[in-house]
Amino acid sequence: MEMIKERAAPRVERLNEALGARMVGFDLSKPLSRSDIETILKAFAEHAVLVFHGQKLEPADLSRFTRHFGPLEVHHMAELPFPDFPEVRILSNVRKDGKLIGANRAGRHWHSDLSYLDETGLATFLYCVETPPAGGNTKFADMAAAYEALPKEMKRKVDGRTAIHDRNFRYSELYPDRKPLTPEQIAAVPPSEHPLVIQHPVTGRKALFVAKDVVSHIVGMEETESRALIDALEAFATQDRFVYSHPWQVGDLVVWDNRSTLHQATPYDEAEYRRIMYRTQCKGSVPIPAVA
Ligand code: SIN
Repeated sequence: MEMIKERAAPRVERLNEALGARMVGFDLSKPLSRSDIETILKAFAEHAVLVFHGQKLEPADLSRFTRHFGPLEVHHMAELPFPDFPEVRILSNVRKDGKLIGANRAGRHWHSDLSYLDETGLATFLYCVETPPAGGNTKFADMAAAYEALPKEMKRKVDGRTAIHDRNFRYSELYPDRKPLTPEQIAAVPPSEHPLVIQHPVTGRKALFVAKDVVSHIVGMEETESRALIDALEAFATQDRFVYSHPWQVGDLVVWDNRSTLHQATPYDEAEYRRIMYRTQCKGSVPIPAVA
């Protein structure tokens, strides 16, 4: 008789002191029950980063799961590796016939996905197909905890301020191995102004909304002071005490909330090892300014 491998009963386990939860007992390759979806969405609001180990997902599964969080987003730089699923991207260093199968070295700087659009990123989903034995982690910083821990004088400097998020600001420095953006690509993604402190639409928690390589300046602040404050805010928010670093295993799916976290991919030995990730995202909304 064939042995049926039982899944553990669904449960949510805190990942570490900083943020995140391990989601045990969910099989995302199948449609989920209403109660499982409610558990997952509640954990998402509460923990901001959810880790599901041991998944076996096709692009269709990833799309179906993503839709529970909001409408699918097709990235403006999407390479469309799966014609039936334009919302699924590949991030990889692997080449086929000399051509990369997806975006390589994406997001090696701290950022919140699509923060440079008027409607910024909500949830991002990353699924591990192949991973190197060391390196290639994704790090997450808890921007709500960082805001709460900010010294009073820094809070006074950021409360009520807005900042300019600009995809084009440091693009050529961040991606020296990619083709420079064309004038049309630059014009297609103009900068956006957002509050420096935003309020989470579900939890009401305030969070810093800033990343030094994407935010060009703070509105109405002198240039040197603005740059120093942006750099100081990112350095403060990305201290170890606010960070969870995810070491990938094949079959991991990680979902994160771009409204309360920054994330950053870390390097690995690309000459020796392969890394293949599938990625989706759902549409976000205009960030809510935090009220004092
Ligand atoms: C990203 O989505 O910014 C990349 C994350 C990663 O590849 O670890």
